[in-house]
Amino acid sequence: MQKLIINGPTFLSGEIEVEGAKNAALPILTASILAEGQVVIKNIPDIADVRYTLEILQYLGCKTRFENNTAYIDPTSIDKYTIPPQYAKMMRSSILFLGAILSKFKRVQLTNHPGGCEIGQRPIDLHISAFRQLGIEVFEYDNTIECRCDVVKGGEIFLPIPSVGATENIILASIFCNGEVIIRNAAKEPEIANLCHFLNKLGARIKGASTHTIKIEGVKRLKSEFDQHTVIPDRIVAGTYLCAVATCGGEVLLKRVLPRHLDSILHILKNAGCVIKEQKDTIYIKKEGRLRGNQRITTHYYPGFPTDLQAPVCSVFSVADGVTIIKETIFENRFKHVPELNKMGAQIHVEKDIAIINGVNKLKGSQVVAQDLRGGAALLIAGLCAVGRTEIIGAHHIDRGYEEIEKKYSVLGAKVTRGE
Ligand code: EPZ
Repeated sequence: MQKLIINGPTFLSGEIEVEGAKNAALPILTASILAEGQVVIKNIPDIADVRYTLEILQYLGCKTRFENNTAYIDPTSIDKYTIPPQYAKMMRSSILFLGAILSKFKRVQLTNHPGGCEIGQRPIDLHISAFRQLGIEVFEYDNTIECRCDVVKGGEIFLPIPSVGATENIILASIFCNGEVIIRNAAKEPEIANLCHFLNKLGARIKGASTHTIKIEGVKRLKSEFDQHTVIPDRIVAGTYLCAVATCGGEVLLKRVLPRHLDSILHILKNAGCVIKEQKDTIYIKKEGRLRGNQRITTHYYPGFPTDLQAPVCSVFSVADGVTIIKETIFENRFKHVPELNKMGAQIHVEKDIAIINGVNKLKGSQVVAQDLRGGAALLIAGLCAVGRTEIIGAHHIDRGYEEIEKKYSVLGAKVTRGE
């Protein structure tokens, strides 16, 4: 099992370009099977989950090429509507092939519960109940989900939870619907707007992305000619860099980033004493001295504070002044990084969905285990500021969502290498 080896403490300095968003690239690659010809998608991060998705597209019969962060997908020879077990469990976003393949073939079979970070039960009941409301027959047997329909009925779906994946799956299933599908209480994440922008370029008719009401007017077929599409910058990767500077100290300029997608984390870090200056597509951050804690932070759906930055922020406030309280409201098991941070000398106490962080003066390098993607990033941040050597076992978790993380942080002065 690969590990990351970090020698701290480190000051971070320099400039870095933020890679494309994993959580936009995955649904967009999945949606590419609906195209009538080759599509070109730029700014795709070279991460494990993208490679897994390309493997699934190849299995389905698509021709794929991926170089210099650009994917060329030709779905015209696609000839399968089943996703076998080994693929489904690779990552959570495999569930989106339900909607995309259903739109293409009016039937789909997915064996195995979708994989991904073990941060909670991660049910798919909202996806299935929405499909059934659209007249899609859904059968669940032997760990398999099978869906079929003659036509996807129009209708209005209310999501009791603004689920990102359910919103995306309903959109993908509704592209060729009979009439119009309206999603109420839809998720507003920017990655969904990027997916809708891609689909509309292909000739779909989707309105209301980035709002809580999304309307999909069914079309007969998509266009054959297609310009190209660029994936938006990854706001979680950007936020992770910001948390790293806030924890270690230093002065960094993030480039190719959209500050308006990061309002919540920028607010938290400014409150804590970081100097932050935003331009159109850059963020400058400087941190000297000790951060101020004593904040109460709660994860929310977008544009609130994102659950995906909860773990990195735990690292930030583990070495800040005072007591900071973080409440995790989205996933029920997303504090697995806390015992590992405590091994490094942090003083964090978890009670149900709340982490109470007593800031300490410094952390000490230790051997720790990454249990999920963003928890692993939190351990990297802690290792950068800890005194001595830190080994993070389970680097593969981090590689699912961060491109060449040791190289990127080394550009900023970190002493990070990869080992067996
Ligand atoms: C997406 O996961 C992201 N993954 C997650 O990022 C992110 O944390 C999450 O949205 C929330 O922003 C991708 O986009 C690939 P949800 P998703 O459906 O779609 C419950 C990362 O680190 N729920 O919005 O799975 C669910 O249990 C990953 O990049 C149901 O109850 O999240 C959770 O409590 C981690 N039934 C809440 O909704 C359902 O049918 C939000 O989940 C679906 C979800």
